[in-house]
Amino acid sequence: MQEKFKFYMPTRILYEKGLSKHLADYIPGRRVFIISDPFLFKNGTAQAVGGAMKDKEVAYYSDIEPNPSCESVDAAAAAARAHKADCVVGIGGGSSMDVSKIVSCLVTNEGSIYDYYSAGNKKLSPRTVSLICIPTTAGTGSEVTNVGVFTNRKTHVKMPMVNNEFWADIAAIDPELTVTLPAPITASTGMDAFCHAIEAYWNKESLPICDMLAMGAMKMILKNIKTAYDEPQNMEARGAMSAASLIAGIAFSQTRTTGIHAASFPLTAEFGASHGTACSITLPAFIRISSEQAGEKMQTLAGYLGYETVEAFADAVEALMADMKMPLRLHELGVRESDIDHITETALSAAIIQLTPASMNFDTVSELLRSIL
Ligand SMILES: NC(=O)c1ccc[n+]([C@@H]2O[C@H](COP(=O)([O-])OP(=O)(O)OC[C@H]3O[C@@H](n4cnc5c(N)ncnc54)[C@H](O)[C@@H]3O)[C@@H](O)[C@H]2O)c1
Ligand SMILES: [Zn+2]
Repeated sequence: MQEKFKFYMPTRILYEKGLSKHLADYIPGRRVFIISDPFLFKNGTAQAVGGAMKDKEVAYYSDIEPNPSCESVDAAAAAARAHKADCVVGIGGGSSMDVSKIVSCLVTNEGSIYDYYSAGNKKLSPRTVSLICIPTTAGTGSEVTNVGVFTNRKTHVKMPMVNNEFWADIAAIDPELTVTLPAPITASTGMDAFCHAIEAYWNKESLPICDMLAMGAMKMILKNIKTAYDEPQNMEARGAMSAASLIAGIAFSQTRTTGIHAASFPLTAEFGASHGTACSITLPAFIRISSEQAGEKMQTLAGYLGYETVEAFADAVEALMADMKMPLRLHELGVRESDIDHITETALSAAIIQLTPASMNFDTVSELLRSIL
């Protein structure tokens, strides 16, 4: 165990089935700007939340695409400034919530996201606009992290932006919002949450508080994900998945993620895979190599989850993914042998890869990727 550790979580958490119908009671500010994606606007989820805020002036922005680009951020920020928003609400998966984080800052910080992100070196001044995140996937845990992930359309590079202004004031979790998730998105986003938990747990900067959260979250996901996948209306499974995603989010908000997420960035930005698919495709292979430096800890985890060995645990995760018809091989995403070197280099350029409990260099990472080609 580490001799010293820190834990910081400033976000107020509200969890309740049906919460989104009476959220107005908790929303500060008068000029509310709601950011969502086209699906959540068409199916009325965004308007149902905004419609309940009777005494407020609500404007909507619903053009957020998966793996949001900096251009989308700038367009949303322009609309939020025009509305003179004093409260930004992100409703959706990680994509809408991540955009809401930076937009809540850009309302009072001039210029483009590019001035503050990537090569931009301007510093965001403290956020004065309230920020509320409402997840509709289970999920990214973005509602309880200080991370936003954006794609630079000019360079096709997808990279996280970490900023303490990105902690939401309120994370409002209503599992009922997830019942419309189609089975493949239930699977991929649920396995993303599993990756967050395991990457917090085996992280070189892990801490005991997060280990406990991560272990519990993994158990909840293994117990409930297939039911949520098979029975979309099953509120017990949906509720457990929303809670597990939240708990996994708190865990990795302190530790950051590791090799799985580092390798996912090129797979989403260049091969169009969804975030959860791009992460979970390397999950079994990373579990297998994690014993290199975290052998005892991984054996404890395998035992806690009901497996005799780490290898049996990796096999079971792979079987679960196969049961949910998730891709297990990189070629299913369009990756060819000739792409491996480039994916390796991009993965290695993300600093978090070195938090993996195994040696991460060109040879080891390309070998891992080749083993699942
Ligand atoms: N900030 C963080 O801490 C963090 C952590 C992990 C991932 N991310 C980022 O989050 C993004 C991925 O987010 P995501 O996986 O939640 O998906 P998403 O937000 O990209 O949405 C994926 C699809 O699911 C649909 N969808 C969302 N909720 C739905 C619902 N209730 N019913 C039906 N369809 C629904 C959306 O319309 C969209 O088509 C990526 O950009 C990823 O890098 C951020
Ligand atoms: Zn993730």
